[in-house]
Amino acid sequence: ALRYSLTQKPQNHHQPPPSALKIQASFKVAILGAAGGIGQPLALLVKMSPLVSDLHLYDIANVKGVAADLSHCNTPSRVRDFTGNTELAACLKDVDVVVIPAGVPRKPGMTRDDLFNINAGIVKTLIESVADNCPDAFIHIISNPVNSTVPIAAEVLKQKGVYNPKKLFGVTTLDVVRANTFVSQKKNLKLIDVDVPVIGGHAGITILPLLSKTKPSVTFTEQEAADLTVRIQNGGTEVVEAKAGAGSATLSMAYAAARFLESSLRALDGDSDVYECAFVESELTELPFFASRVKLGKQGVEAVIGADLEGLTEYEEKEEGYEIYMGYYHDS
Ligand code: NAI
Repeated sequence: ALRYSLTQKPQNHHQPPPSALKIQASFKVAILGAAGGIGQPLALLVKMSPLVSDLHLYDIANVKGVAADLSHCNTPSRVRDFTGNTELAACLKDVDVVVIPAGVPRKPGMTRDDLFNINAGIVKTLIESVADNCPDAFIHIISNPVNSTVPIAAEVLKQKGVYNPKKLFGVTTLDVVRANTFVSQKKNLKLIDVDVPVIGGHAGITILPLLSKTKPSVTFTEQEAADLTVRIQNGGTEVVEAKAGAGSATLSMAYAAARFLESSLRALDGDSDVYECAFVESELTELPFFASRVKLGKQGVEAVIGADLEGLTEYEEKEEGYEIYMGYYHDS
């Protein structure tokens, strides 16, 4: 059997017996923007998930070949392709989770804000169809600027009368993935054990890693905390510059999106021990949307974990108080 796990389960989590590895695949997943830089490797990772029975790939072009290619992998899910607006409704009918990496990525010198005009329109159109065809689905928004595309999606869903704040997520998992990687490198920790909550938003200084809440417990000098925070905040730009015009993070993003999807599917499947950071509607601060750790369940967000905001270090307080509370900041 194919063993597949992108998610880090808490250490006290009950490990399933080997027989439980024969999981009944039962969830339908749609990826919108599936032929893109993120979409393709994400589709491959999702094709490996034993929890997925149907994988629907949608794009405005080039998705037929991606689906044909992927469909030859001998894993349980059935792959289908859908091209263009006329096939969008069929793609979305009755799916459990919709993942949206559709849109344009950054080039050097661009901020995530520069993507707003194009991506906001794309997300709006896609969400209208989600509202009509799978209003009960979990919605994972990857398209940037997440700080804006998520509130736009919420407004579209409200207009359609189907908004459920517990099921709309901006995907910030890559910030956590980067934080875990960079902290484990800096502190020589076993990577699999490291978990750093990252809160706030998903752009530049709104990305606030709570290094003081790192598990396992570890201490940082103020300089280490400052260096790590800046590197985590600029992780996306590090990749944009290295790719020198060929786009932004795609492989690490696909990995992060697959991890968030797998967590959502586990929650839908009844696992009562699933926590992830995500950008969701929130009452933790005065901002209407805020990334924080959330507990996921069958109905979506079961709880927003406010405790992470207590007992912050002076450095974190300063970052949070000054940068995040000043309002809707998108990027630098
Ligand atoms: P890409 O350009 O390689 O792929 C985007 C895909 O979207 C293309 O296949 C394109 O045909 C498709 N597309 C365009 N308009 C569409 C529409 N109306 N309906 C359906 N599909 C459409 O871009 P890439 O690198 O995959 O990035 C996608 C998005 O993800 C960008 O907005 C990028 O900024 C964002 N991103 C978000 C991250 C996060 O942490 N949330 C991290 C990295 C990227």
